[in-house]
Amino acid sequence: MTGLLNTTGFNREEDEEIELKLRPQSFDQYIGQDKVKENMKVFVEAALHRGETLDHVLLFGQPGLGKTTLSGIIAGAMGAKLRVTAGPAIERAGDMAAILNDLNEGDFLFIDEIHRLPRAIEEILYSAMEDFVLDIIIGKGPAARSIRLDLPKFTLIGATTRIGLLTAPLRDRFGVIHHLEPYNVAQLRDIITRSAEVLDVEIVPDGADEIARRARGTPRIANRLLKRVRDFAQVRYDGIITHEVAQDSLDRLDIDPMGLDAVDKKILHAIIEKFSGGPVGLDTLAASIDEEAGTLEDVAEPYLLQLGFIQRTPRGRMVTQLGYRHLGIVPPLSMHADQLSIGEV
Ligand code: ADE
Repeated sequence: MTGLLNTTGFNREEDEEIELKLRPQSFDQYIGQDKVKENMKVFVEAALHRGETLDHVLLFGQPGLGKTTLSGIIAGAMGAKLRVTAGPAIERAGDMAAILNDLNEGDFLFIDEIHRLPRAIEEILYSAMEDFVLDIIIGKGPAARSIRLDLPKFTLIGATTRIGLLTAPLRDRFGVIHHLEPYNVAQLRDIITRSAEVLDVEIVPDGADEIARRARGTPRIANRLLKRVRDFAQVRYDGIITHEVAQDSLDRLDIDPMGLDAVDKKILHAIIEKFSGGPVGLDTLAASIDEEAGTLEDVAEPYLLQLGFIQRTPRGRMVTQLGYRHLGIVPPLSMHADQLSIGEV
């Protein structure tokens, strides 16, 4: 296997293979998201009992929370396979028509980043989802004709990190809408312990805890950190992931004790040093640190907001007292004064 190398020099193909092995295959193996899981189990059982297809499902939540994994489990529980595609990969109406036309009765179609489907393509989905028909226009100008093709009954699972960007007509065609929440440390510890078993690496509970604390509420990050810590354990230590091994490895990877990485730090420092602590608009902030505004908003910002290190105000992002303190910087006096006056009222 030649394998592509990613920027960190690790073998990406091997990582992807491991990724598949780590994915839970059933509701029982899937840790966390209890409410979503329990509800989905009921809908699956009811649909199976009636001999019907499952209603269309929309899953939303931050990247890495397991939307694809959960979709695979839902399809599996219905005895079906999941066909995976993504909004940005479908560029023309013909692409969408071909995908839909290729489906069989009971199939599951998963569209990741569904908010990024072009509008004209999204409109094809309306009749496909509602009436299981495909309306396509052939020809141009006065000779154009619309033809209608019947589609087999299928289930669409849409996934998005940005529910607010979905149009109302699309959102309203999903019969089930679920929000995936960030995981707590105990759940991440269980995921890491299970993954370590799959990877056949020994880990002590304190070691799993340390990785969990730095995984920013996200299983994908937890598993990625576990794989890198395993590398250090193997090469620099005796193969066992102890608390010390986890701590040392993650420090070397520039992941701090609360899970902040170099980009998070860059954001906090930029707001404090270049914009006097804020408020600063997202685009201005992104340009100042040479990152994409979308990446900042989807990936870095949710965790900084969750920790209470930044605040979103109508005029832009601001670093909070907690954020200053985390970096070891004394918050400006004006901040103390604000807080005092609020406290005294
Ligand atoms: N791997 C990734 N997400 C998981 C989850 N929710 N439960 C178990 N293993 C996982």
